[in-house]
Amino acid sequence: NAYGLVDRYGRTARSLRVSLTDKCNLRCTYCMPAEGLPWLAGPDLLTDDEVVRLVGVAVRRLGVTEVRFTGGEPLIRPGLTRIVAAVAALAPRPRISLTTNGIGLDRVAPALVAAGLDRVNVSLDTLDADRFVRLTRRPRLADVLAGLAGAAAAGLRPVKVNAVLMRGVNDDEAPALLRFALAHGYELRFIEQMPLDAQHGWDRSAMVTADEILTALTGAFDLRPDPVVRGATPAESWLVDGGPARVGVIASVTRPFCGDCDRTRLTADGQVRSCLFATRESDLRGALRAGADDAELARRWQRAMWDKAAGHGIDDPTFLQPARPMSAIGG
Ligand code: GTP
Ligand code: 5AD
Ligand code: SF4
Repeated sequence: NAYGLVDRYGRTARSLRVSLTDKCNLRCTYCMPAEGLPWLAGPDLLTDDEVVRLVGVAVRRLGVTEVRFTGGEPLIRPGLTRIVAAVAALAPRPRISLTTNGIGLDRVAPALVAAGLDRVNVSLDTLDADRFVRLTRRPRLADVLAGLAGAAAAGLRPVKVNAVLMRGVNDDEAPALLRFALAHGYELRFIEQMPLDAQHGWDRSAMVTADEILTALTGAFDLRPDPVVRGATPAESWLVDGGPARVGVIASVTRPFCGDCDRTRLTADGQVRSCLFATRESDLRGALRAGADDAELARRWQRAMWDKAAGHGIDDPTFLQPARPMSAIGG
């Protein structure tokens, strides 16, 4: 695509992640403080129509083929189903996916599928109710499990499960989580914790690494490298016990995949971020509300992506955690 989102290192962004709200009904320790955060003010949020307008620019003018809605928690955005339907009506129609904590998903999954949702990724770090409360500060494990089952019942495939292991809390749970995922037909991925928590409490030496997780899994399962080409997905994948079931590890920290990154991001307040760890944002909301046409919005988006850094630089001595936490960026 001659008008695509390319950067100076030759990467092309075809996958757009849209945060629909910075709010959430959980308080995962690796993401938010117990008291929550100063939420974005209502007028600063993109309206449903503004979201659809900007996604339309990305899809029709910039070669974006995959749109993923995130948060905060995207299911608490009242207009989610409407937004999904409007994005599904774009030509060319992008693939549409959702990253959610799963609470309430059982109730809305049928409507989301009818609107055009193709795939869902659900966060679930533990199967133990007490640990769930320690990790998320809310007693909602049963709701998440119901949400997962509801997603599968609504016909969403694959249903992926994202698990972050935290030292001393759930770092012994990798095999149990995999047994659970295999039993239900979910595709499990373990995620290395990244320095994106609001409290800036991330500690490299305390992080549970991909190597550790794989060691724990190989004690209980036969893992072989997945022959399917990985492409730009963050997850490295293994076939479990001969397949077809697989398990993934998203080793953002110890095995970065920035060289193959195909992602661009739009925050709930209408800022383009070229990377999770970008230090600068580009204000599309301001331009849009000042009357910019689609061509101008596309040019601004391209300019923002051209400056994308080569990598996140977590291991650099000069690394600075982004000012915004994960919940405000949109994982
Ligand atoms: P799939 O298309 O299903 O592979 O989606 P995904 O894994 O990209 O999306 P998901 O929202 O499930 O994210 C899983 C984890 O990958 C989260 O912790 C994300 O923050 C992380 N992730 C997604 N994109 C990037 C990225 O560009 N860089 C880094 N470092 N992590 C990312
Ligand atoms: N590091 C890694 N993953 C994180 N997530 C939230 N915060 C972090 C972090 N600091 C995960 C969530 C969700 C996905 C979007 O990102 O668990 O599955
Ligand atoms: Fe909410 Fe996701 Fe943060 Fe958990 S990780 S508090 S579900 S935004």
